[in-house]
Amino acid sequence: MIHLSNESGELFTQAFGFAQKQVRRLIEKNPGFYPLYTKNGAWKHEGPAWTHWCDGFLPGMMWIFHKHAAPDSADSKYWLENAIKYTKPLEPRKHDKEIHDLGFLFLSTYYRWYRLTREPALREVLLEAGRTMALRYKEKGQYLKSFVGDNSLFIDIMMNVGIVFYAARETGDRRLRDIAVRHSLTTRRTLVRGDGSTAHEGIFDTDTGEFLRQTTHQGYRGDSCWSRGLTWALYGFTTAYEYSRDPHFLQTAGACADYYISHSPADGVPPWDFNAPAENRTLLDTSSAAICASGLLRLCRLEPDPLKAHLYWSCAVQILTTLCEKHLAKSDPKWEGILRGGVYHVHKGLGVDESVMWGEYFFCEALERVLW
Ligand code: GLY
Repeated sequence: MIHLSNESGELFTQAFGFAQKQVRRLIEKNPGFYPLYTKNGAWKHEGPAWTHWCDGFLPGMMWIFHKHAAPDSADSKYWLENAIKYTKPLEPRKHDKEIHDLGFLFLSTYYRWYRLTREPALREVLLEAGRTMALRYKEKGQYLKSFVGDNSLFIDIMMNVGIVFYAARETGDRRLRDIAVRHSLTTRRTLVRGDGSTAHEGIFDTDTGEFLRQTTHQGYRGDSCWSRGLTWALYGFTTAYEYSRDPHFLQTAGACADYYISHSPADGVPPWDFNAPAENRTLLDTSSAAICASGLLRLCRLEPDPLKAHLYWSCAVQILTTLCEKHLAKSDPKWEGILRGGVYHVHKGLGVDESVMWGEYFFCEALERVLW
């Protein structure tokens, strides 16, 4: 990989500092609160969650900040104490069968904590979360069902199947590994299209397991490409390849990356849905861009073709440059988030053109990957 220019290094380091400032401000203003999205720039409001999938991202950022603080500094102590304080309450969620998001919850928190300390009890939490996640498996159809019902598969679950792969690898459990591989193969076959675009949801016949159709909740429509779903796929298939070394998953991650790169504006920040009609394609989703940057920085290390690897790295740097130059909330002192211009759920009117917690987390993760 080529090195960052001094200018980019400085820009990204400043953004990393700003992110810490905003997270400190959030937890000091609203102690113990786990937000999803802002309303007019404020984290605390009465807006509904739709589903409870985001509680790992705030402590996840704290683990990142702790890792890169000067050893034994006041910052290091502050972030460690808070990371533990906000991570511990998540432990009971290792049994949560209501959501399909246990990877989001635990890979951002207990996984980072365990990598730091190697305490066996932390690993046990991860394994239990992986086993709970695997209970969502539908033998007929061969997928992990989404939170909306037995007949539903979401592209987002590619970000969560990693916890099943992890539990399989750590325990040597063949059945867990089979579930993770089959889920990934089914998602590849039913939700990733020939041009590398993705559908948000697949509907199955639960009696026969037959795949029936593509549809959506958060995208423009069933046959469109919701940009965040595409980036969940890009990142998720990269993870599936890391664990399984099945080249089909590397190929799929690459196809999603190529679609993103060739369909996004030159600055790298996409519309909320690539097929949204012209009048609302000006609504961007910076959280997709942040996820994409982080996923590309992971993918570029696995891609055997050096030209492609370089393309992925350069695109990630371009995306991060745009996010830092155009979308940081720095210019509005009242805005409590880090990145503006994220989108949660257009149709329900939740978190539209706001800061969103996963956007913040993957932005920090991408900065971490590019800087260290
Ligand atoms: N529920 C995952 C997402 O909004 O992307």
